[in-house]
Amino acid sequence: MKVTVVGTGYVGLVTGACLAQVGNQVLCVDIDADKVARLRQAEVPIYEPDLPGIVQDGVKSGRLQFTTDIAAGVAHGDFVFIAVGTPPEEDGSADLRHVLAVAGEIGQHLQNPVIVINKSTVPVGTARKVQDHIAAALTKRGVDIPFVVVSNPEFLKEGAAVADFMKPDRIVVGTDDPAAAEKMRALYAPFNRNHDRLIIMDPPSAELTKYAANVMLATKISLMNELAGLAECVGADIEQVRRGIGADPRIGYSFIYPGCGYGGSCFPKDVRALEYSARQHDFDAPLLTAVEAVNNRQKQILEKKLVAVLGEDLKGKKIAIWGLAFKPNTDDLREAPSRALIAGIMKRGGTVQAYDPVAMDEVRRVYAGEPALTLCADPYAACEGADALVICTEWQEFRSPDFVKMRRLLRQAVIVDGRNIYEPTVLRAEGFIYSAIGRP
Ligand code: UDX
Repeated sequence: MKVTVVGTGYVGLVTGACLAQVGNQVLCVDIDADKVARLRQAEVPIYEPDLPGIVQDGVKSGRLQFTTDIAAGVAHGDFVFIAVGTPPEEDGSADLRHVLAVAGEIGQHLQNPVIVINKSTVPVGTARKVQDHIAAALTKRGVDIPFVVVSNPEFLKEGAAVADFMKPDRIVVGTDDPAAAEKMRALYAPFNRNHDRLIIMDPPSAELTKYAANVMLATKISLMNELAGLAECVGADIEQVRRGIGADPRIGYSFIYPGCGYGGSCFPKDVRALEYSARQHDFDAPLLTAVEAVNNRQKQILEKKLVAVLGEDLKGKKIAIWGLAFKPNTDDLREAPSRALIAGIMKRGGTVQAYDPVAMDEVRRVYAGEPALTLCADPYAACEGADALVICTEWQEFRSPDFVKMRRLLRQAVIVDGRNIYEPTVLRAEGFIYSAIGRP
């Protein structure tokens, strides 16, 4: 099949590369000429496991092509995906400018019937707006070309995006048009094996499903973080509580890990965007507000715990940080808890020695010219002469370190663990002052 993907960010590139991998002829469009030039050489601009391999396959076979020419893109595809960014505005609402601009361009250049697929995370009602924009552009041209707008939200996790696309739990397709639904079923057939994963619904429900999923997950995390705080007050161990509640299949073990707060490009933005939607409709949504407030408080917890041991004034103190990305297997620093911690340390006059297995280039970019932050080549170098070590990301390589070596390198044997990756009894036996989340 012939597929066009507009926008080669995280979602667009993964979508395009995966659809090419199963045999489709895919043309990806982006306005960033530099990026397009690099992608044509199969250079992937983001860190994402498995993505470079399938981009290379696609480019080599000619099934995955890149262009800056939107007219060529619109002419190419029987399916045109819109996968451009919806950056949050100050008030939390999603900025739809890029999505609607692409819709207008589709309308300007459309020659043949097409299915337009909204892949970007957009507020309920956007499919309708995209429909209107395309229709208006066609009317302006005085032509009548049939098209359908389908809402097809993505549920990709960074660090596992290719696997999530190739083996999805579900494929949500929002359309009221049975013929379009059948075409979407055919497009997704290679990923829809063993049992039917396609869930067809009306477009507003598909749009809300995306937010509902992310908000549900964010709520689980915030509730666990709140319970962790309470556990500390009453002398309980949240890790034992977690096992105790996770065993109930209605609750389940996933997404109930307490920590230093959720980050990334989706949860914080989507919770705020849904909150904004609720406000716009004059609908009181106290849970959404609370989920965000708890997370904001949680992002301060590492600084609080650090100060509880080292004192309020961090002047002359060096703090080691392991893991800066918002979660393992990504180099993404967006809304990462480490950033709140770094800001707190700097405000108190301290300096940071940081290490992350893959995010170092991104850290360099974000903190360019920041003298209070030193990047270290390995985890142990970060500990050298530091007054405390803080774990912000639960990378596998941090789980079983050489504690004897760490104690020797650290000026003070203090560990603040924002992801509960160690056992308090073990760490105390090793001679550390150890502080975790929700553990005695
Ligand atoms: C998320 C959704 O999982 C995905 O379906 C959606 O399409 C986009 O948003 P992602 O942002 O890549 O994906 O990250 P995810 O793995 O879900 O983690 C989000 C944050 O929650 C991370 O900061 C993580 O550390 C935190 N988290 C997750 C917890 O603190 N505790 C948990 O139990 C699980």
